[in-house]
Amino acid sequence: MAFLTGLALQAKLTLSKSALVAIAATESRHNTWSLIDVFKSSPFAGPTDTVFPYANEILDFTNVWVINGSCPAENPVFPSPRQNLPSMSPSLSTKSIAPGSVLTLNFTQPHNQPHFAPGTDYYAVFFHGVYNISVPFDTTNNSTVIPSEIEALGIIIVVIADKEGAPTKENVLAGPLILPESPAVLASIY
Ligand SMILES: *[C@@H]1O[C@H](CO)[C@@H](O)[C@H](O)[C@H]1NC(C)=O
Ligand SMILES: *[C@@H]1O[C@H](CO)[C@@H](O)[C@H](O)[C@H]1NC(C)=O
Ligand SMILES: *[C@@H]1O[C@H](CO)[C@@H](O)[C@H](O)[C@H]1NC(C)=O
Ligand SMILES: *[C@@H]1O[C@H](CO)[C@@H](O)[C@H](O)[C@H]1NC(C)=O
Ligand SMILES: *[C@@H]1O[C@H](CO)[C@@H](O)[C@H](O)[C@H]1NC(C)=O
Repeated sequence: MAFLTGLALQAKLTLSKSALVAIAATESRHNTWSLIDVFKSSPFAGPTDTVFPYANEILDFTNVWVINGSCPAENPVFPSPRQNLPSMSPSLSTKSIAPGSVLTLNFTQPHNQPHFAPGTDYYAVFFHGVYNISVPFDTTNNSTVIPSEIEALGIIIVVIADKEGAPTKENVLAGPLILPESPAVLASIY
C-alpha cells in the first residue's frame, strides 16, 4: 500500500487511476489478513493509510532481499530509475515505535552509507496519513524523536533528508524506512 499511494500520484490516465484503486483495494485485504492472522495485531490504520510520494524508493529498498547475481544479466535495472539510497533500520536497542519515543537509526549496508557534512542541518521526515512532519536528525548519534503529534496507529514512513519536508526525491539521503506502530509487528521483525 505504501508503494501504491505514491504511484497514484504519478498516474495520468483515468484508466490507470481506476486500476490503481482496484489494486489498492485488493492489497488492503491482504494487509488486513496478514495483520490479523499472521501478526495477531490491529488491522486499523486511522482515517487513512500513509501516503508516501516516492514510489520507486519503496521498490528500491526491496533490493536488499535480492541475492546479488541471482537474476539474469539481461534484466533491466530495478527499479527504474534507481537511487540506491542507503537502507536503514531502527537500531537493535529500539524498544517501541511510538510517537514521542527516541528513534536511533542503523544504516545497515556497510558499503552504502550516507555522508553527512559537518555543520549542516539534516531532517528526519515522518510521513503518516496524508501529511509529513520534519524534525532535526542528529548526525552525531544518528538519533531523532518520533513526533508526538503522530497518531499511534498504522504505519509511519521515515526518510533522512537535507531539506524539511523532503520536497523532491533528490532531497532524500537515506531510507525509506517503514515503521509499524504495533508492538506485535515490531517483535516479529526482530
Ligand atoms: C554485485 O555483483 C556485481 C558483479 O559481480 C558487483 O560489481 C557489485 O559490486 C555487487 N554488488 C553488491 C551490492 O555486492
Ligand atoms: C546494525 O545492522 C547490522 C546489519 O543488519 C547488524 O548486524 C547490527 O547488529 C546492527 N546494529 C545495531 C546497533 O542495531
Ligand atoms: C543525541 O545527541 C543529542 C545532542 O547531543 C542529544 O540531545 C540526544 O539526547 C542524543 N540522543 C541519544 C539517543 O543519545
Ligand atoms: C551515524 O551514521 C553515520 C553514517 O553512516 C556513521 O558514519 C556514524 O558512525 C554513525 N554514528 C553512530 C554514533 O553510530
Ligand atoms: C511535506 O509537507 C510539506 C508541508 O506541508 C510539503 O510542502 C511537502 O511537499 C511535503 N513533502 C512531500 C514529499 O510530499
